[in-house]
Parts: sequence; structure tokens; C-alpha cells
Amino acid sequence: MNFDFTEEHLNVQQAARDFAQTELLPGVIERDNEQKFPYEQIKKLGELGFLGIMVDPKYGGSGMDTISYVLAMEELSKIDASASVVVSVNNSLVCWGLETYGSEEQKQKYLVPLASGQVHGAFLLSEPEAGSDATSQRTTAEDKGDHYLLNGTKNWITNGNTATYYLVIAQTHVEKGHKGINAFIVEKNSPGVTVGKKEDKMGIRGSDTHSIMFQDVKVPKENRIGEDGFGFKFAMKVLAGGRIGIAAQALGIASGAFELALKYSKERKAFGKEIMHHQAIQFKLADMATQIEAARLMVLKAAYLKDTHQDYALASSMAKVFASETAMWVTTEAVQVHGGYGYVKEYHVERLMRDAKITQIYEGTSEVNRIVISREILR
Ligand code: CAA
Repeated sequence: MNFDFTEEHLNVQQAARDFAQTELLPGVIERDNEQKFPYEQIKKLGELGFLGIMVDPKYGGSGMDTISYVLAMEELSKIDASASVVVSVNNSLVCWGLETYGSEEQKQKYLVPLASGQVHGAFLLSEPEAGSDATSQRTTAEDKGDHYLLNGTKNWITNGNTATYYLVIAQTHVEKGHKGINAFIVEKNSPGVTVGKKEDKMGIRGSDTHSIMFQDVKVPKENRIGEDGFGFKFAMKVLAGGRIGIAAQALGIASGAFELALKYSKERKAFGKEIMHHQAIQFKLADMATQIEAARLMVLKAAYLKDTHQDYALASSMAKVFASETAMWVTTEAVQVHGGYGYVKEYHVERLMRDAKITQIYEGTSEVNRIVISREILR
């Protein structure tokens, strides 16, 4: 087993770390307070190749592996999970799905601008009555010969208003259950697309989350991804990779909070010495570091399996469950290490704690990922 990173891995990790410090950290509290999308930062991330990290350069991407992607995700998420979720959705759900299953025409028309960071995309699966139970799609795509007619509502859509292109999962043949579901590329500015109100969220408040309504939206036949009826499997395959990205985001939130707690424990004095000299704090830091290391190994293993074309669905769900629970626990402990200062915004850890919560919810709740894990181990 080789635990060494290549020079390319170390370079992308350093580039993401530098970007997070210089471009994301200034203004992160203000963006969180005001629910401001990080437009400038996402534009720059696109120019630097972070929106198409794993995409072949012939389609505008950076041509790197999944390990590079998770290293970048960890560094960006240490500072700003609202920005890193855009990177995650665009890389794992949108670009990977298009590059792996799209036609050559779809790749030229949509993947190139998405991977080169000119625009970014969104993945529309969840509905008011179909979140975890993804087979129960109510959005319909009626086959009209040369096009489909799309009707329905999608909920909790990350990048809902800022995305230029949507990947939409919809029911085409209701009677066929999950085998009647298809995935479509829909241009956001198509007639009949309405963006609903922005959600006022507990965490990742800078990210752009909306409901999207479709009313008689004409989707050209050539915008269906894959064979008729492939949509549910497409969504499951894409989400298996997406969960690696969210696990890496959770890992970054945890390690960002840990770094702040460590720094604070070296500065803050109580009972005549820096609090790092108190065993109560030392044991907390030791447990935090141990949990984070375990989460990191699980994230890297899932990424390695994907890069080496092995089955990674089990590893990605395990990594997501463990890393997201680690993020929630470590950020709560980081607030505790900071005492009262941890409860106010300028020390950052309260934001990381709020941001951690979403990693247990999106791209499959912890409960759904436990379904995936238990089915695999009971098989
Ligand atoms: N790869 C390929 N095929 C898969 C698969 C995978 N990883 N997982 C399941 N399938 C296939 C199954 O083999 C089965 O096919 P066959 O009938 O041909 O055998 C088919 O898909 C149906 O599978 P299940 O019977 O397991 O389906 P289910 O209804 O029991 O649901 C589930 C399984 C795991 C609960 C699934 O519904 C699920 O993952 N739900 C959660 C959805 C989710 O993650 N939503 C997040 C929204 S996206 C988001 O959050 C993005 C964002 O904005 C940040």
C-alpha cells in the first residue's frame, strides 16, 4: 500500500490551500451573514481549473484524478463550504455524469463550458415528496416525438439560480417504476423554467439553494442522457461519486475546525497556563485528530477505488457517513474548546458547526447511506 502523494497531488493541495486563504477567507463571514453567493470566487476557481478537476483536457478539464479532487475539496472546505459545494456538485454530479454517460455532441456543447469553468451546473433529483426515496419521482417527461415535455417541481437544488445547465431526473414511463426514469440536460433559460425562492438555511448560507418549477418545458430528444430508462441508474452512479466529494467536504470542515481549536488552545490562557496544557483540552484534541485521520483514510480509499476502476459505492457511502458524523462532532468540540468565543461569528467555528450539519443530509442522508451500506454487507 502506498500512502505517498504524487507531486501533482501536493501541488493541487497547495494551490487549493492558498486559494482558500487568499480568496475565500476574506469575506466568508459576511457572505454567510448576508447569504451572498461567492460569484467572484467561483469564477476564479473556474479559471484555475477547479470546476473540472477530473475532466479530460480535451473537454476543457484539468485531467487529474479523484485523489486530487478530494485534496482540493478538503482544503477549500476548511474555509468556505458554501464555495466548495459548488465545486463538488459541478465536478462529481454534473461533469462526471456528462463525461461518463453523455454523447459526444452533449460533451462538446455542455461539458466543455462546464468543465472549463465558464459556467456551472446543478443536479435536480430531489422533489417535495421524493428526497431519500428517489424512485418516487413525480416530475414527468412526456415523449412527444422529437422532444420531451417536462413538468414538475424540484426541491433543495444547489446552484438552482446560478447554474446555466441543469441535469434533471424525471419519470418518463410511470408504470415502469425506476426503469421508467430518465436524465436530461435542460438549459436554465428554457421557456417554462421558473426559479423559486432562495432557501434561508442554517448553514452553507452562501450557497444558492432553490426550488425549480418546470411547466411544459420542451427538452430536445438529443438532451436525454443514455438509453431510454437509464436515468435512475445514472443518478445512483453519479451520487456514488458525489458522496466522495461530500465526504471530502465534511473532512475539510472537520479539519478546518480542528486547526482553529488547536491554534486557540495555544493562545488562550486559563488557570495560569495556555489551555493546551490542560489534559481536558489535550484529550479533546487527541480524539478530534484521531477521528479526522480515520475519516481522511476512508475518503482517500474511496477516491483510490474510483481512480483504479474498482467498485466504490460501498466505500463512498461509508466515507460519507463517517466523515459527516466526524464533521458534526469535531466542530461541536471545536466550539467547546473556544468556550464563549466559539459561540460568536468572528471565531469561525460556529459557522463550521452549522455547515457540518448539511453533510449529514445532502447527497443521501446518513440514513440513506446506511441503507446502501447494509444492503452491500448483507448481500
Ligand atoms: N450503481 C448502479 N446501479 C444502482 C446503484 C449504483 N450505485 N444503486 C442502485 N442501483 C440500481 C439497482 O441495482 C436497481 O437496479 P435493478 O432493478 O436493475 O437491479 C435500481 O438501481 C434500483 O435500486 P434499489 O432497488 O436499491 O432502489 P431503492 O428504491 O430501494 O432506492 C436508495 C435506493 C439507495 C434509497 C436511493 O433511492 C437513494 O440513493 N436515495 C437517496 C437519493 C439522494 O442521494 N439524494 C440526494 C439528492 S442530490 C443532492 O443532494 C445534490 C446537491 O444538491 C448537493
